[in-house]
Amino acid sequence: MFRTTILRTASLPPVKAAVKNTPLFRPVVTRFIAGDTVEEAIQVAERLADEGFFVTLDQLGENVADVEAATRELESYVRLVDQISQSSRRSQINISIKLTALGLDQGDDVAEANFRRLLAAAQASDTFVRADMEASEYTERTVQMIERVFPDLDNTGTVLQSYLYSCGSHVDRLVRLGSRVRLVKGAYLEPESVAYQSKADVDANYLECAKKLLLRGRYPAIATHDEAVINELLAFAADNGVHPGRFEWQMLYGIRRDLQAKLRDMGHNVRIYVPFGSAWYPYFTRRLAERPANLLFILRSFVK
Ligand code: FDA
Repeated sequence: MFRTTILRTASLPPVKAAVKNTPLFRPVVTRFIAGDTVEEAIQVAERLADEGFFVTLDQLGENVADVEAATRELESYVRLVDQISQSSRRSQINISIKLTALGLDQGDDVAEANFRRLLAAAQASDTFVRADMEASEYTERTVQMIERVFPDLDNTGTVLQSYLYSCGSHVDRLVRLGSRVRLVKGAYLEPESVAYQSKADVDANYLECAKKLLLRGRYPAIATHDEAVINELLAFAADNGVHPGRFEWQMLYGIRRDLQAKLRDMGHNVRIYVPFGSAWYPYFTRRLAERPANLLFILRSFVK
């Protein structure tokens, strides 16, 4: 209910304009976003890498308006890959992208051509590129894109969302393919026709899919800040002889830093998802919608 209200309100143009243009929001935005420029993002990534974390950089942007804009996005991602390749910490840093930034709304062929060019550029410097998962209208197309591209360019994988009924069957397909999967609960507003609506159902499906991935997946990423889920999966991995080196935990920049450090100190691989760039509004509103406390934090900033 809270999530629905926040996501619907945030999409209203006057609300969007007010949030983007009010300096008071800035401290809250920078809690979740590493900065506006590639240089700032790489600085944050290198600091996290020095602390023993792995990093995925997300240059924010999604749903471009036309083919030319998709080409510009591609070019800027290729520049990002090049800058990562010059970092002394490059082996700990990879990237995440959204296929709608590479032209998925303009056609599967447009996005695929751009995606292949990006993967080829990234392969030259041994960089992994993950396609984030967007709203459910893109799920099947994204999975099919990975199935088409992976046999030629295997430095890629995607994300599956446990709120979708289809998650389990997509896990099976991608495990068969041998591509890496990041498992998340899902951040978009989805109807009952395609997605579980209660936290209990989403969590139960998360655990079921995560266990499958831990047993049979290729270096899966278990992406959650949910401590109860994490504890159950730690016990499952230990009971089933799944060595910590065979998978990684992933969490978002600025969220549950205590838990990120705890897992790292236990000897687990932990990757931090670090978003940056000026197109931060949709990412920011999805983070606000996940937790009422984030909105209270904003209200407190206003009062102060
Ligand atoms: P849940 O929402 O149940 O939260 C569990 C606990 O985590 C909360 O009680 C709170 O302590 C903490 N928490 C969670 N969100 C918080 C927030 N915003 N602020 C402060 N605390 C918070 N989604 C998607 O649809 N496509 C994608 O490609 C990705 N990619 C992705 C990458 C990575 C690395 C992560 C960690 C997450 C994503 N997501 C995503 C987002 C994901 O779907 C989900 O919305 C969030 O991770 C929140 O869900 P949790 O699993 O943390 O559990």
